[in-house]
Amino acid sequence: MEKKFNLETKINHDGLLHKTYNGAIVPPIVQTSLFTLGDWDGAEKAFSNPTESLIYSRLHNPTCQIVEAKIAELANGEAAKLYASGMGAISAAIMHYIKANAHIITIKNIYAPAHNFISNYLPQKCNVEVTYVSGEDVNEFENAIKENTVLIYLESPASVTYQLQDLKAIAALAQKYGIATIIDNTWATPIFQKALDFGIDLEVHSVSKYLNGHSDVIAGVVIGKKSILDHMLLNEMALFGAKMAPFEAFLILRGLRTLIPRLKQHQSSTLEIANYLESDNRVRTVYYPGLDSFPQKKLAEKQMTGYTGLLSFELNTDKLEEIKSFVNKLTIFKLGVSWGGHESLVYAPYISYSRELTAEQFAKTNISAGLIRISIGLESVVDLKNDLNQALDY
Ligand SMILES: Cc1ncc(COP(=O)(O)O)c(C=O)c1O
Repeated sequence: MEKKFNLETKINHDGLLHKTYNGAIVPPIVQTSLFTLGDWDGAEKAFSNPTESLIYSRLHNPTCQIVEAKIAELANGEAAKLYASGMGAISAAIMHYIKANAHIITIKNIYAPAHNFISNYLPQKCNVEVTYVSGEDVNEFENAIKENTVLIYLESPASVTYQLQDLKAIAALAQKYGIATIIDNTWATPIFQKALDFGIDLEVHSVSKYLNGHSDVIAGVVIGKKSILDHMLLNEMALFGAKMAPFEAFLILRGLRTLIPRLKQHQSSTLEIANYLESDNRVRTVYYPGLDSFPQKKLAEKQMTGYTGLLSFELNTDKLEEIKSFVNKLTIFKLGVSWGGHESLVYAPYISYSRELTAEQFAKTNISAGLIRISIGLESVVDLKNDLNQALDY
């Protein structure tokens, strides 16, 4: 699409695509497993150039390709590839760089299943070594580098307590040592944080969150240089097979159309609620990068252009019964995992993290049993504040 267009136009305008589909304003779901290849020569031609050919929907599918091109543009990436889940995208991206006996540097508070994959699965299967850093100081990364370091895996803002990593400085360090970098950019989205522009090699997302935004799809995406994604297409995607189905891609395209206005609403409601919680003495600490009191506010302003709708806080009590009472008293906020959808949710990460990780690994995340996470949806912010206010009489 023309570079001159702004993001809102790039999301909602499909250029000449309508011509391909008889003027249809919404592209169809190309619900097919395979594409016929004509004659013998046609098949030879397709297989001699599999990254550019339509052969089988485990590799490319036109409905998925429309969404992939759009997401790549939003992130300033050369290419994007949809996966069947965020974890499908994360594990494929990591496996792209891993070999037996390699060393990974990552941060303590990455999403628990990614943590589990890196710290339990990979060491058992491939004897991979892992070093954890807080991520707040670039020197920690440099000090952790070893002969066999192949990958720095980031998540900024990190899960649950949202510490940031300096993406530009870490990408420069990694390039100096020939080490690859991946970031889970789900929290900020490609709208609020252009991680690839800072020199990060691959950006991964759980598309199940804001990019789709309607809590009706599980999906993931990897974004980066076309040469890397083409290599992944024939290896981690074709061989592990975590490929997105066309119907899911169709739903994501519909969700993407409203991404920017949705994010504006999530941001304004969440800032209001974060400030409200911070000012209430029934709350001890609020973790949200959009707050002026956020310890890394300067870095947040340097590398992000906005803040989304997920925040955490600790109540002014250590009594688990009172914390449970707060959660159970909420009526609009429903108790459930995930986030980034139209609906407001509440969750206590301790419930699953303490089961996903070993006791020792969980202790290192600094997540307390009483830490509460809320995802601010698109309901009236007045109603949401009233709901929190009544539940705060725990
Ligand atoms: C930060 C983050 N990354 C990745 C994932 C995994 O995505 P999915 O559930 O789509 O596999 C999640 C899911 O909650 C997440 O919160």
